[in-house]
Amino acid sequence: MAAARPRMDISADPEALAHRVAQWVTDLACHAGGRFSVALSGGSTPKRLYQLLAGAPYKDAMPWDRVHWFWGDDRFVPWDAPGTHADAAGTYERELKSYYGADKLDPARPLFDVVLLGMGPDGHTASLFPGKPAVEERQRWVTEVPEPGLNPHVPRVTLTYPALESSKSVAFVAAGADKHTMMQRVLAGDRALPSAGVHPVGELVWFIDQAAQRGA
Ligand code: 6PG
Repeated sequence: MAAARPRMDISADPEALAHRVAQWVTDLACHAGGRFSVALSGGSTPKRLYQLLAGAPYKDAMPWDRVHWFWGDDRFVPWDAPGTHADAAGTYERELKSYYGADKLDPARPLFDVVLLGMGPDGHTASLFPGKPAVEERQRWVTEVPEPGLNPHVPRVTLTYPALESSKSVAFVAAGADKHTMMQRVLAGDRALPSAGVHPVGELVWFIDQAAQRGA
């Protein structure tokens, strides 16, 4: 069966886009009955969104005591704690399983309420890079991404497709004309692009600005 076409939500510019997503996440959190879980994306695009969430009016509306924030992916930089790259992925997966309360994901009970994602110039999302083993991972919820050739060139830890897809809403956030061509390829379902492989159990939304919609 073909995947449902995502919902497109277009804002005038990056500032309006950041407000739009901030309002969307805040509204969902407010309307959720109990705890509410959000997986955050890295990259530069959501910086303004995160700034907005930390200030009025969003900060005052957000039910912080019910909201749980998770990383979608991160750079693996050993700091002051001992542990290998694989240990870090395993530790995070155990943390997620403990939060979820089970070792197996049930499509009827998604792990996340919202997963925020970005799209890289090569079509990667989170730290799922084209042609790398993490893209094939269907059992683990978290995996290490040690391969060289990533830009920037640092080992990473990432949620896998099973975890990213276990969400009531998955939202790509993309701004700027330079995202246009890759986004079109992703929306056309180009299987070589990890961003095109995200098929959540819930809705899929693309929050973009007009420049990303139009291109150069
Ligand atoms: C990261 C993310 C990555 C990011 C995209 C888009 O770099 O931390 O894992 O998937 O979301 O590369 O990045 P920009 O928002 O900077 O374009």
